[in-house]
Amino acid sequence: MRQKIVAGNWKMNTVYKDGLELATAVNSLATKKTSDAVVIIAPPFTHLAEIKKVLSVVKLSAQNCASEESGAYTGEVSVSMLKSVGAEYVIIGHSERRAYYHEDNAILAKKVNLTLSAGLKPIFCIGEVLPERNANKHFDIVKSQLAEGVFHLSPVEFENIVVAYEPVWAIGTGVTASPEQAQEMHKFIRSEISSKYGEKIAANTSILYGGSCKGSNAKELFANPDVDGGLIGGAALKAEEFLQIVNAF
Ligand code: PGA
Repeated sequence: MRQKIVAGNWKMNTVYKDGLELATAVNSLATKKTSDAVVIIAPPFTHLAEIKKVLSVVKLSAQNCASEESGAYTGEVSVSMLKSVGAEYVIIGHSERRAYYHEDNAILAKKVNLTLSAGLKPIFCIGEVLPERNANKHFDIVKSQLAEGVFHLSPVEFENIVVAYEPVWAIGTGVTASPEQAQEMHKFIRSEISSKYGEKIAANTSILYGGSCKGSNAKELFANPDVDGGLIGGAALKAEEFLQIVNAF
């Protein structure tokens, strides 16, 4: 059975004290959650070690990792460092990393490999920009992001991947994909996984939706058979609303 997952991507928000408060509040509300969704938060690197100490039911993710294992890479944070402070997941290939830091599928595939070798789970993000959707190329884009980013993995490795479909035009814009658009793409993603790894692995893969998902629209998005949860940006910065999304199943 695949897991339902709601993951909060805090991005570059919160100073340490506020982050610790938010994590504490999320964890406390999550102890009373009414859904069986796995709850994950991805705070900034600087907060991870201390936040880990206040979490019981909530799991910890990083927002990124280095594409090298260790050594002379000033400013980078390795997967073994993340593992050592208790992170269990790493968001890889977020559209902001792809767009602003020029991370291509080859770099992302390296990060996926390192993440898995450290015993962490990648939350691998894919999604098209608006001109690509308008040109009806969104399926091709997503297909190549999967092919080049994660389809080199063995079936056993792939079982640790969480996929997040985030149409770039919906991220932080307030424009959400319609439930039909989300379902259509999630179904396509699952069929691609099925062609590569077989039906069983595809059926067990969690595919999250991201892009202006909030308390008010999570229910209709999560009601789709192939939408297994959400990767939440803005709405993850308010504990109450984030838990409303968790409880939307
Ligand atoms: P948003 O961000 O919920 O603020 O649109 C989602 C994301 O970037 O993961």
